[in-house]
Amino acid sequence: MNKFIYGLDFGTTNSVLSIYDEDKNEIVDTIRVPSLIYFPEFPVEGSTNYIIGEQAITAYLEDGMRGRFIKSVKQILARSSFIETRIHSRRYNASDLVALILKDLKTKADQIIGYDCKKAVIGRPVFFDDDSSAKDTLAQTRLSTAVEKAGFTEVRFQFEPIGAAFAYEKMILKKEKVLVADLGGGTTDFTYLELDPARANTTDRQKDMIASGGIYIGGDSFDSAFMWERGTPYFGKDTLYEASPGKLLKVPISLFDNICSWDKMNFFNNVRIRRSMEDYYHYSNEDRNFKNLLTLVDNNLGYSVFQAIERTKIGLSEYDVFSFQYGNMGIEIDEEITIQSYNAIIQKDLERISAYLDKFMLANGIKKEDVDSLFLTGGISLVRGVKELFQDKFPGSKINSGDNFISVANGLAYSGYLFEEEI
Ligand SMILES: Nc1ncnc2c1ncn2[C@@H]1O[C@H](COP(=O)(O)OP(=O)(O)OP(=O)(O)O)[C@@H](O)[C@H]1O
Ligand SMILES: [Mg+2]
Repeated sequence: MNKFIYGLDFGTTNSVLSIYDEDKNEIVDTIRVPSLIYFPEFPVEGSTNYIIGEQAITAYLEDGMRGRFIKSVKQILARSSFIETRIHSRRYNASDLVALILKDLKTKADQIIGYDCKKAVIGRPVFFDDDSSAKDTLAQTRLSTAVEKAGFTEVRFQFEPIGAAFAYEKMILKKEKVLVADLGGGTTDFTYLELDPARANTTDRQKDMIASGGIYIGGDSFDSAFMWERGTPYFGKDTLYEASPGKLLKVPISLFDNICSWDKMNFFNNVRIRRSMEDYYHYSNEDRNFKNLLTLVDNNLGYSVFQAIERTKIGLSEYDVFSFQYGNMGIEIDEEITIQSYNAIIQKDLERISAYLDKFMLANGIKKEDVDSLFLTGGISLVRGVKELFQDKFPGSKINSGDNFISVANGLAYSGYLFEEEI
């Protein structure tokens, strides 16, 4: 019987498992699922009470967006304030939730290879959290527990961008000093290393890693910025209400901060907040846009609005103009967005990525001329402003990319050498 290693990239948006055949020395299959969990309000009797991935989206939308829908669960790994959540009278901590996604991938892969594989290289971002090593440790511990709960016993961890680098190594013919950038849904990770196809199957790779770093910016940050700039006006950001007779004020801006990221939306579950929103609505003379905010909150429409935002982002990777469209329960949005205005919306995030990269190179003594080539991977490496950032910074270097969604998992699966090393 053949022996296999799984390379498992648990991502903010997508999770991917690559199956490496140790005897054939190659990847034989790759499975990808969106990192989404849906707990229907009324689970079908006799089945699990949750659904993972693409089917989670379908079921959630079919159920009229009721039940519990969990997105970007990777981000709660580093959140010390998140202890657990109750769903259908069961408690789930962060590891329990992550384990559901990992287990789903493992079960699918085990069906392909025909046995219960316990050996995996698991990816992790270089930093789970920008500003606290305690949070980073917490996230790593929680991820380890999740991996165990999913049924893996022989486990090694590898930085995600190093995984991406090993995938790139399979594409080159000679030694190269490479800057790898993995630009995902949650984080942007860098690694600078020497790749050498001749060393691909050797076991002492540690000294080839020259430097790694990362920043907490990704596709989710772009979507939040877009929601703030282009979405919130449709939900009443500019609404005026009559604070006292004859005195008009804008409704509090803080309300809109809470619709700009998916995980903050539960802010509106607070009864006091809900009541004050009713008041603003009343004293705004029943403003139409503010009514959209009530509709959004009451009907849990956040995910579907963010889907429309994501579609716009993806459309603008290809076209110069794309419509931001959303129509549901009286909320009507149909606005053309140009690539120039999209670039302006994500400008701050791009500047932060750029500044971080400068700092990373300086701190590690990497000069531009030391970079033979770049390898860009991850979903938002397709965003035009992101591509341009790298083209402008490294005008003389070759910029390569592979499969943006599976490179990391493939490279993790190629990291079997980690099992040979002392830990
Ligand atoms: N064609 C595209 N153009 C622009 N953005 C895209 C495109 N396709 C996907 N994305 C975005 O890429 C992001 C997901 O990328 P990816 O799958 O690499 O992330 P991830 O691995 O799940 O996240 P992370 O590595 O940060 O944990 C999402 O924000 C998604 O909207
Ligand atoms: Mg990723």
